[in-house]
Amino acid sequence: MQKKSIKVIQKAQEMHDWAKAQIKQRARIALVPTMGYLHEGHLSLVAIARANADLVIASIFINPTQFSPNEDFAQYPRDLKGDLQKLEVAGVDVVFTPNEGEMYPPGFATYIVPTDLANVLCGISRPHHFRGVCTIVHLLFRMTKAHVAVFGEKDYQQLTIIRRMVCDLWLDVEIIGGPTVREVDGLAKSSRNTYLSADERLDALILFKTLNQIEATFKTGERRVEKLLEQARKNISTVASARIDYIEIVSADDLVKLNIIDRKAICAMAVFIGKTRLIDNRALV
Ligand code: PAF
Repeated sequence: MQKKSIKVIQKAQEMHDWAKAQIKQRARIALVPTMGYLHEGHLSLVAIARANADLVIASIFINPTQFSPNEDFAQYPRDLKGDLQKLEVAGVDVVFTPNEGEMYPPGFATYIVPTDLANVLCGISRPHHFRGVCTIVHLLFRMTKAHVAVFGEKDYQQLTIIRRMVCDLWLDVEIIGGPTVREVDGLAKSSRNTYLSADERLDALILFKTLNQIEATFKTGERRVEKLLEQARKNISTVASARIDYIEIVSADDLVKLNIIDRKAICAMAVFIGKTRLIDNRALV
């Protein structure tokens, strides 16, 4: 028997009706929200979703409200055909591919604005970013009626903010974080890696190397954040194409800056390699 091809839904109402019908049959639904141009990182989130639900929905939507006017919304890479093939192989049941008008119809006027957690790390150089993320993620939760949703740990701040939103707004969605997937040499997989030239691709390894160095020093017993960051900044400054947006060591729960690492901490960084802004992080425990 020929395998049924993957179901693609473009309309929000159809997505909602489909989910409602599945729930009537007692299905547990998992959502993997994405902006497309999928790589193994996304597919690993799909595998987690499959292990935690009966049905998996992947959404593909490049969300304009999480980009500032000077960011890469227009250039963001797109490959819907390739994405659908990958999702079909990965065993996704439905791909939700709404257009902008479906998600933000004329007259749309309600946003979710995260506070403290969104005003640090990436939120400093991307002040409206997490408002866009929370708003779209909440809409996706409602439209897909997901019981569980999976997000990558590479976007640690995003994951933390979404967990907080779910808690604060009493949303009935279980949030699962998926470990960062890396290239063989250690660079965290990202759709934005495609922007890098061959030389920049090599330079981009500085993020992974710096995290390794910080972790190694931490493991020798160093707990003073300034000492660890000083070493990291020095290391990054050896790469001419690299410009630090931020590098911080924060408490893993509430993203508050630490002076001394006396609880579970995260070292998080955003570094421009040429014009491409890359992020990465490491838990220090
Ligand atoms: O992490 C992403 O790709 C996006 O921020 C998300 C969660 C799909 C919302 O647009």
